[in-house]
Amino acid sequence: MDALEAIRTRRSVRKFSSRPVEAEKLAAVLEAARLAPSWANMQCWRFVVVEDPEARAQLSQLSNVESYFAPRGYKTNPAQKALAEAPVVLVACGVPGDSGDLRGQQYYLCDVGIAAQNLMLAAHAVGLGSVFVGVYDEEGIAEILDIPPEIRIVGLFPLGYPEGESKGGPPRKPLEEIVFRGKWKA
Ligand SMILES: Cc1cc2nc3c(=O)[nH]c(=O)nc-3n(C[C@H](O)[C@H](O)[C@H](O)COP(=O)(O)O)c2cc1C
Repeated sequence: MDALEAIRTRRSVRKFSSRPVEAEKLAAVLEAARLAPSWANMQCWRFVVVEDPEARAQLSQLSNVESYFAPRGYKTNPAQKALAEAPVVLVACGVPGDSGDLRGQQYYLCDVGIAAQNLMLAAHAVGLGSVFVGVYDEEGIAEILDIPPEIRIVGLFPLGYPEGESKGGPPRKPLEEIVFRGKWKA
């Protein structure tokens, strides 16, 4: 699968089979994250690989942030079950002090985000599925995984073999709406 095909066909996967993830595939996914570009090549990302079923169940619980989901009409995080089901969860972290902080923009989010896209595309290319989970109780996760307070948790990524067929993803805005030629157009 080439890069464009991987970008075109990747979907968020929220249902996983119990089939284990081979060590080589996990290594390929982490390697793809490692090769991402970053601010001044500072590589501020860190990844905690969580395979223990009890720890994954805890991550799943901690992704159910009622104060976020209830007002938006969700019962829970749509990815909550995925975190317990998938055999591996990657917890992507950033070291804010190891990236840019300019014009009020914290580039560690960008660095970790790019690494995250690399890992999701690599997962897809080797037949695995994943989803970016951005809603969770950060303090709770830091506590169970011993993540120090100066480190920010940027996302959780359940990783495993997808269960069932992909339904196709939600639509994207057309290019005419998001691309301006020459100057910004309101
Ligand atoms: C920063 C970020 C945070 C996200 N957080 C969640 C989440 O907490 N739960 C969830 O089910 N999906 C989450 N998603 C997945 C998006 O809902 C999904 O990518 C989007 O609907 C497009 O669908 P697709 O990935 O299948 O193309 C997140 C995606 C991003 C990029």
